[in-house]
Amino acid sequence: MKEKVELLQKEVKEKLAEAKDLKETNELKVLYLGKKGPVNELTTYMRGLNVEEKKEFGKIVNELKQELSSAFEEKIKKMEEDILNQKLAKEKVDITLPATKIPVGSPNILEYIIEEVESVFMSMGYDVVDGPEIEEDKYNFEMLNIPKGHPARDAQDTFYIEDETILLRSQTSPVQVRTMLAAGGKNPVRMICPGKTYRRDADDATHSHQFMQIEGLLVDKNISLSDLKGTFDVLAKKLFGENCETRFRPSYYQFTEPSVETDISCFICKGKGCSLCKNSGWITVSGAGLVHPNVLKNCGYDPKEWTGFAFGFGAERLAMLKYGIHDIRTFYQTDLRETTNFDRKEVE
Ligand code: DAH
Repeated sequence: MKEKVELLQKEVKEKLAEAKDLKETNELKVLYLGKKGPVNELTTYMRGLNVEEKKEFGKIVNELKQELSSAFEEKIKKMEEDILNQKLAKEKVDITLPATKIPVGSPNILEYIIEEVESVFMSMGYDVVDGPEIEEDKYNFEMLNIPKGHPARDAQDTFYIEDETILLRSQTSPVQVRTMLAAGGKNPVRMICPGKTYRRDADDATHSHQFMQIEGLLVDKNISLSDLKGTFDVLAKKLFGENCETRFRPSYYQFTEPSVETDISCFICKGKGCSLCKNSGWITVSGAGLVHPNVLKNCGYDPKEWTGFAFGFGAERLAMLKYGIHDIRTFYQTDLRETTNFDRKEVE
C-alpha cells in the first residue's frame, strides 16, 4: 500500500512539475484531488483493513492529501502571480514620456476686445450693463428721437418681429434709454453696454447681419464735448498705444447734438497714409456726441440741469483693426485655423 501511495505521490509531483500553465494545473488538480480521483480512491482500500492498519493508513493518506493540496496551491499561486506581473509590466506607464498636447478652447477674439474696452471703462468708474436683444420700437427708435417715418430709420434696415412694434435691436443705443429711465432722472449715469445687434444686411467682408456694438453713456452736470474727447483719448491710447492721436469730425445722429465721428491716427503708417487709412492718416472707429436734449427729456432728465455724452463702437471693427482681420465673417464662422491663431498670449 505504501508503495502505491509513494508511486502516486511521485506521479503527481512529476505531472505538476510539467504543467505549463494555470489551466493545465487546475485540470490536474481536479484529476488527482477531485472526488473521483486516485487520492480519494485510496480510502476505498481501507475498508478491508483492521483498526490499527486503518489508523496508520488513514494518516498516510491524509498526509498525502495535504501535501499534494499545498503543492497544487503553491504552484497555482505562483502562476497567478506571474500572470499578474506580466500584465503589470505590459501596462506600465512611462512617466518620462512627453504628455499628449490636448487642444484647449479659447474665447472668440471679440471677447478679448470687449473685455479690454470694459476694463478701460471700469477703471473710470463705468458700470457694464446688458439690455434685451428683442426690443421695442419705442426704445430702439422713438425715445432716441427717431420717430416713425423718419429717414434715419432707413440707415438701419431692421428685422421686425411683430408688426412694427417688436424688433431685433438694430443698435445698442436703446440700452441708453433703459438705463436713464432706471436711474429715474435724478442720478448721474456712467455705463457701457456691449451686445449683439442685428440688421438686414447681406453678409460680405465688411457687413454681417449680426454684429456687436459697444455703447457708452455718461450723464451728469456740466458735461461737454471735451469730456468725451478726454475719455475717448484714454480708450484709444489703451487699445492702440500711447502715441495714438484722436480727432472728432462733425456728423449727424438723431440722438446726439452735436454729433461726431471719432477717428484715431493710423497705427500702421503713423499718419503718413496707407491702404488701411485710405491715405488719410486717420481711421474712423465710432459715432458719438452729446446726448440730445429730447432724449434726456424722454428719459426723465431735465436738459437744463443735466448733460451727457454717448458713443457707439463696432466691436468687430475695433478687433479687425487691432488684430489685422480682413473679413468680418471670420468672427462668426467656426474655422479653427482662424480662431485658434488668436491665443490670448499671442495677442498680448
Ligand atoms: N447707434 C449708432 C449706430 O448704430 C452708433 C452711435 C452713434 C451710438 C452715436 C451712440 C452715439 O451712442 O452717440 O450707428
